[in-house]
Amino acid sequence: MMNINKMVLAYSGGLDTSVIIKWAMEWLKCEVIAVTCDLGQNEDAEAICRKALKTGASKAYVRKIADEFLKDFCLPALQAHAIYENKYLLATALGRPLIAKHLVEIAQAEGADAIAHGSTGKGNDQVRFDVSVMALDSRLKIVAPVRSWHFKSRNEEIEFAMKHNIPVEATKEKPYSIDRNIWGISIECGILEDPWQEPPDDIYQITSSIAKAPDQPEYVEIDFEDGVPVALNGDRLSLLQLVERLNAIGGRHGVGRVDLVENRLVGIKSREIYEAPAATILHLAHSELERLVLDRETQHFKQILSQRYSELIYNGWWFSPLRKALDAFFGQIQKVVTGKTRIKLHKGQAVIVGRQSACSLYDYKLATYDKEDVFDHLAGEAFCKLWGLPLQVVGAKQKGSM
Ligand code: ARG
Repeated sequence: MMNINKMVLAYSGGLDTSVIIKWAMEWLKCEVIAVTCDLGQNEDAEAICRKALKTGASKAYVRKIADEFLKDFCLPALQAHAIYENKYLLATALGRPLIAKHLVEIAQAEGADAIAHGSTGKGNDQVRFDVSVMALDSRLKIVAPVRSWHFKSRNEEIEFAMKHNIPVEATKEKPYSIDRNIWGISIECGILEDPWQEPPDDIYQITSSIAKAPDQPEYVEIDFEDGVPVALNGDRLSLLQLVERLNAIGGRHGVGRVDLVENRLVGIKSREIYEAPAATILHLAHSELERLVLDRETQHFKQILSQRYSELIYNGWWFSPLRKALDAFFGQIQKVVTGKTRIKLHKGQAVIVGRQSACSLYDYKLATYDKEDVFDHLAGEAFCKLWGLPLQVVGAKQKGSM
């Protein structure tokens, strides 16, 4: 048994983390400080806080950090085009290191000697919490009771909760595990564990089905300055306002649903459903603007780094020197990502229909096939001669004519 005096717990208000409070008091004989982080998941954090105190926490903090989340975590991921396995926009994965950062800060201020979280032993989130805490304060112990405690089923947990007067909301088991923040929603378990089954429509939290989405398309215009989205349809907005509005508009049109069988870091495949309307639209808008303003080599080189960056985030290495170094690369090229994109939303789709920028490298006179054309067509002949020369040599060699 670990020797712990005071631990700081990432508290969600759910059954697991509520049971952890009492479990730690009973088994570890330690004081528990509960921390509820509001990353824009639309919950009553104050009420959750009160529940923590009622359950036995000696103190309960609420951290409202949706702004910080967007600015310091989602924005770099957007500028990096970080998309895990080409589909997942990483909302859950980006939230964990931020929550860990706040837990560590509070632990240091409170003189606590341990951090606790409610993640299981077979998921990615335990990795992200553990590794982030290890990186930020190597002296802190890490407790993840769900990995090790003696409860064998949810019912045993519920029994323990009832015995200790922990309010248990629904006695009927909720079939899904849902993680939500302003950047997106992750949904798994229940029938979704059969990868052949179509997700039932009632799992979706913020997007409408294609059938119920409006018949008329809707256009949005997004302005970027130095790679940062700053305005929507001409209204200058904070990042938080802009993402909230895009979630509402995109959600209405059923944009941003993803059904993914993914590779977890711990070695298993799992099936997850995601909803991320705003993030989907912003990724499209940002990457389409970059196509207009980046030179070819930088644009192509970036793609390689984007994939590595998405893996770093997914695998819990946010607080790593490599992530910071990659941010410097992505940051450097954002200087020209200033301009506007126009996106059409319709029946589950977001498509680019227009882009413009003062930094545009698109040159009409070079691109046109009309009479304004200034491209040196004759140079094309010499270019082809040299570009194809290595293949010409190989071909000749194979035919024996060389
Ligand atoms: N698979 C996603 C990830 O690893 C989400 C994990 C949490 N999912 C959930 N439904 N609670 O980032």
